[in-house]
Amino acid sequence: MTLKVGVIGFGNIAKAIITPLLDQEILRPEEIVCLVNSKKSFENLKKNYKYKINIYHSNSSESDLVWHCPIKILAVKPQQLKNIKEVNFNENNKYILISILAGVSLKTLESIFPKHNCIRAVTNIPITIGQGLTGIAWNNDIDDKNKNFIKNIFENSGKVYEFSEDYLDIFLALTSSAPAIIALIIDALGDGGLSGGLTKKLSEELVLDMIFGTVLMMKDLKVSPNELKNMVTSPAGTTIAALRILEEKGFRSTLIESIIGAMNKSKEFR
Ligand SMILES: NC(=O)c1ccc[n+]([C@@H]2O[C@H](COP(=O)([O-])OP(=O)(O)OC[C@H]3O[C@@H](n4cnc5c(N)ncnc54)[C@H](OP(=O)(O)O)[C@@H]3O)[C@@H](O)[C@H]2O)c1
Repeated sequence: MTLKVGVIGFGNIAKAIITPLLDQEILRPEEIVCLVNSKKSFENLKKNYKYKINIYHSNSSESDLVWHCPIKILAVKPQQLKNIKEVNFNENNKYILISILAGVSLKTLESIFPKHNCIRAVTNIPITIGQGLTGIAWNNDIDDKNKNFIKNIFENSGKVYEFSEDYLDIFLALTSSAPAIIALIIDALGDGGLSGGLTKKLSEELVLDMIFGTVLMMKDLKVSPNELKNMVTSPAGTTIAALRILEEKGFRSTLIESIIGAMNKSKEFR
């Protein structure tokens, strides 16, 4: 068995990163070792995950196998990091550890995993459908061959941006937290439709297609948000009536502050 990629914490995001690599046969199931913490997750994955990867309980004797993998993805919650203890079976060379944890800095990671070269990757939930955005901050000691392999992991499910670590908190706020903001906006607009007498289901369907069409138009025709706003806002019309209410309620500044709030929370995890 040649172990290639170890995954410490096989939850939502780890699954979204690994599954397309298996789908596209970039990795074979037997090359992957994953750890989870609870009996429930372990049994659920054993029974329901579509690939027969090596999956172990974090407190089983086999869990050490994950530390034999030259590349590891650390995908527990930041609050669970204190329970992970480094083991290094490769005395001569440092292995690579890619952390997808919100906020936790390279400096902190290197103090917890001194026998690994650590990398940070901030990714977002649309990687589940191959539409993700991933920001990577490298450690200086990673060579080009490993860089390409790691970039390939994430390019397989979306776009990759390379940053200095300082920009990862704002990247996270804008790409990783903001899908929840968009979902909330869709839900609220759907409630607007409901208030006007449509069903919630139809309202949400309309809102989703409206957003999709609006975004495509901005991207395909290279129309800026401000230009598009002006296109649909006629004098004394319905749209300016809506925008006036949003301005009065501080909608724009609330959105700006929500991004800053997410960025600051990410910085707290350092
Ligand atoms: N959710 C997002 O949109 C998103 C986006 C980008 C990045 N992230 C980052 O991705 C990370 C994971 O998020 P998630 O949403 O995938 O969380 P999740 O679904 O809760 O996954 C966490 C995984 O870690 C496992 N785990 C917990 N303690 C462990 C231990 N001591 N040893 C081994 N495994 C352990 C859990 O196992 P059990 O299920 O058995 O407890 C679970 O499989 C977070 O750090 C988050 O910041 C999340």
